[in-house]
Amino acid sequence: MSDKTAYRGSIFYFKDTATMANLPVNKDQQSETDRQYVYIEDGVLIVEAGKVVEAGSYSSLKNKLTNVKTVDYKGKLITPGFIDTHQHATQSAIVAAYGDKLLEWLDNYVFPSESTYSDDATAKKELNFFLDQLVKNGTTTAVSYGPLFYSAADIFFAELQKRNMRFITGNIIMDENAPDTLKLTAQENYDNSKKLIAKWNNKSRLSYCISPRFALACSAKMLELCGALKKEHPDCYIQTHLDENVNEIAAVKKLYPKSKSYMDVYDSFGLVTDRTVFGHCIHTTDEELKLFQKSNAIISWCPLSNNFLGSGLFNFGRASKFTDKITLGTDWGAGNCLSMFAVMDDAYKVSMLNSVKLPSMVRWYMATFGAAKALHLGEKIGNFTPGKEADFVVIDADATPYLKYRHQKVTDIWELLFILMTLGSEENITATYIYGKPAYINANANVAETVNTY
Ligand code: GUN
Ligand code: ZN
Repeated sequence: MSDKTAYRGSIFYFKDTATMANLPVNKDQQSETDRQYVYIEDGVLIVEAGKVVEAGSYSSLKNKLTNVKTVDYKGKLITPGFIDTHQHATQSAIVAAYGDKLLEWLDNYVFPSESTYSDDATAKKELNFFLDQLVKNGTTTAVSYGPLFYSAADIFFAELQKRNMRFITGNIIMDENAPDTLKLTAQENYDNSKKLIAKWNNKSRLSYCISPRFALACSAKMLELCGALKKEHPDCYIQTHLDENVNEIAAVKKLYPKSKSYMDVYDSFGLVTDRTVFGHCIHTTDEELKLFQKSNAIISWCPLSNNFLGSGLFNFGRASKFTDKITLGTDWGAGNCLSMFAVMDDAYKVSMLNSVKLPSMVRWYMATFGAAKALHLGEKIGNFTPGKEADFVVIDADATPYLKYRHQKVTDIWELLFILMTLGSEENITATYIYGKPAYINANANVAETVNTY
């Protein structure tokens, strides 16, 4: 038997040449030359040693499948795993917290709950529960806030390494405006980050992310030390929050009256880079959007969270005039669902409120290959060109009764993606593969594979 495995089903992915600007925005734009995606109804994905060997039609590849184990996913969609660019791995316990907007919600629910991660056993249990839920939803890569405490953050990296996930994360950093149980001094945060960078950055499939929570939870000295970390380790990512809530913005203005904008505060500490992911960016000024354009910093649009906390409506039409580095995040914790289907659905609805029709291809791109490219990972993940890491998901539109009924009326991939985004849930995820190994198999699906144990 060969070391290869073949997965037979419908194949969908974006080509290497796809960009936000050249994506087809309607079905009529489907000639081979301007089509930036590959869709093969009866296809096969061949994987070996964690990497894509090739993907193509079953009829053209079947001669290469003698002695190759073939897993039958006929009628299901095999597509690259989702990329969630903003989530809090430490917030599972407070999802669905009633009644507060951002700043009160943080004080009343988030901070007390995140304090419990000072206990290693709690941290390990909660973080593994979180990761189990994540892969169940078809997400294979995330930009994620880890715990504040060194030991818990170290546990998170270790669990991610065991699962062999491509992940961008770090210890959330706070030294001000937080309870005593959830803050460290600026120097302690810096020292913890240095140790975690030495131990985990670029180890296995992990990247370290410098993670100042937001300008309100970090002193000027802390932001300065975050800028120093970035200078000392230029390949590290940065994540923080920006322009989420009007009261947050007013408080930042009070703290930094001389700054041109909220984003300018981060910029003055060297934190606006092409590896910085800014969560939310709802109430951005034109000046700030120009800074996105100039810096290639990345926007993570989190519609589930923005709706849940009543933070506001991100205007995709406006932002996309300045930058194509727009990606999608659950913002789990404030976002009430880990499914990127749900995020893409709310992105559609929020855009409709702004009278922008957001095409299926654009949303799916933002949640897969577009995010990979924005994060400088387009050479590694996000599509099925040969040599890419084999992180993929198998989706069954027929797993739930109404979607099955609706699926019968679907005539093309555009509609299939649209109904999945609008009506899909974790129940429609048959399997999730990480680096060519099954990380999750839906117990309700009749699949001959077994989950890889680690
Ligand atoms: N701003 C600062 N911290 C947080 C957080 O945990 N969640 C959200 N949604 N916004 C924040
Ligand atoms: Zn957040």
